[in-house]
Amino acid sequence: MATGQLIEMPAEGREAFGGVLRFYDLAKRQEWQVKDLPWGELPPIPEGKGSPERVARRNDMWRSVLTQQLQADMLACDMSSQLLNIAPDHEAKLYYATMVQDESRHTEAWLKLVGEAGGTAERDPHLDNLAHMTLEADTLEEKVFLMQVFYERLIISRFRLIARSARGTVLEDLCHRLATDDGIHHGAGMAYERVLLQAADKKTKQRLVDAANRLLPEFAARRRASEGGSRDRGAARGVAGSRRR
Ligand SMILES: [Fe+2]
Ligand SMILES: [Fe+2]
Repeated sequence: MATGQLIEMPAEGREAFGGVLRFYDLAKRQEWQVKDLPWGELPPIPEGKGSPERVARRNDMWRSVLTQQLQADMLACDMSSQLLNIAPDHEAKLYYATMVQDESRHTEAWLKLVGEAGGTAERDPHLDNLAHMTLEADTLEEKVFLMQVFYERLIISRFRLIARSARGTVLEDLCHRLATDDGIHHGAGMAYERVLLQAADKKTKQRLVDAANRLLPEFAARRRASEGGSRDRGAARGVAGSRRR
C-alpha cells in the first residue's frame, strides 16, 4: 500500500544520522518550561544602586541587552523553522522540530522578562543582517553552517558573560538554560553538517568558506556596536565587552 511505504522509516544506510538522533533525544530530555524560571522569587534583572540617574542608565543598558536577545531568538524562530521545512532527511526534521520549540520558548521567556524590566529598547540592525544572510543563503549546507555551527557556538560565551554580570536574577537563570540549549543546537548542527558534507563537492565546501567571510564582518560590527553602546561602565562591564574574555 502506498501509505505504508510513505511512513516507512528506512534504517539501512542511515547510520550516518546516529549523531543527529542522539541530539534529538538529548533535546527532548533537556526541555524546560518558562514557568520553571524563578519569577517572583528573584529580581528580573540586577537592581541598580546609586543616584536615580545612574539607576536609570543601568536599567536602560539591561533593557537594551534583553531586547537584543529577544530579537535574536525571534530571528532564530524564523531560521529554525526554515531548516525544519527544507531539510530533506527525516532524522533532521525530527531534530529541527525540537529546535523550533526551543527557540519559541526562548522568545516567550525574553518577552516576559523584557516586560518585567520595563519594556523593549532599540533593535540591533546587525542582528537583522546576520539573520537575513542565513535565511537567504542558497544551500542547506550554508544555512546549517551559519546558524548552528557558527553563530550558536559564538553566542554561548555571551550568555555565560551576561549570567556572570547578573548574579541572583531571573536573567542569570535564563542565560544558563540558553547556554545549554544552544550547546545542543550547535552540537546537532555539527552532526548534521558532517553528514551533509560527506557527499559535498569542492564547490559546496568553498561556498561555506565564502559564507563565513561574509558573516564575520557583520558579527564584528555587532560586537563593536554593543561595546560602544554601553555607557554605564559598571553595569556593562563584562556584558558588552565580550572581547575581553
Ligand atoms: Fe535561542
Ligand atoms: Fe538556538
